[in-house]
Amino acid sequence: MVGFVAGDQRDSRGFSWIATIAVLPAYRNQGIGRALLSACESKLTTPRVRLCVRSGNGGAIRLYEQESYQRVDVWRGYYKDGADALVMEKVRIA
Ligand SMILES: CC(C)(COP(=O)(O)OP(=O)(O)OC[C@H]1O[C@@H](n2cnc3c(N)ncnc32)[C@H](O)[C@@H]1OP(=O)(O)O)[C@@H](O)C(=O)NCCC(=O)NCCS
Repeated sequence: MVGFVAGDQRDSRGFSWIATIAVLPAYRNQGIGRALLSACESKLTTPRVRLCVRSGNGGAIRLYEQESYQRVDVWRGYYKDGADALVMEKVRIA
């Protein structure tokens, strides 16, 4: 296994969360993360998909922006070291 993704569908809220996504360092920048994200999204049926990402994680943020996620919220001090989390959302056309 070189990477994984998990989605958490919340039908009652109208959105799902990409709960986790990661690729082994030696396998990054080859399109695997994008493919995992797309595969997970394809299994989720809610009109919106959300995820949260460390505010300094520029590589992941770039991927999400390329995949049409937009920043909708900031959770201040979300991480144990005090870093903020950006909440990003993708709205899909049904
Ligand atoms: C985020 C992560 C899953 C991306 O996986 P990946 O397989 O490297 O991603 P891809 O090869 O599909 O890259 C897709 C896009 O992401 C962006 N990207 C990925 N890594 C990047 C980096 N180090 N710097 C800048 N952009 C980066 C680029 O926009 C890239 O598109 P491009 O190649 O057309 O420029 C991977 O870097 C990772 O596991 N990081 C550690 C765990 C993590 O941060 N998970 C996300 C928590 S929210």
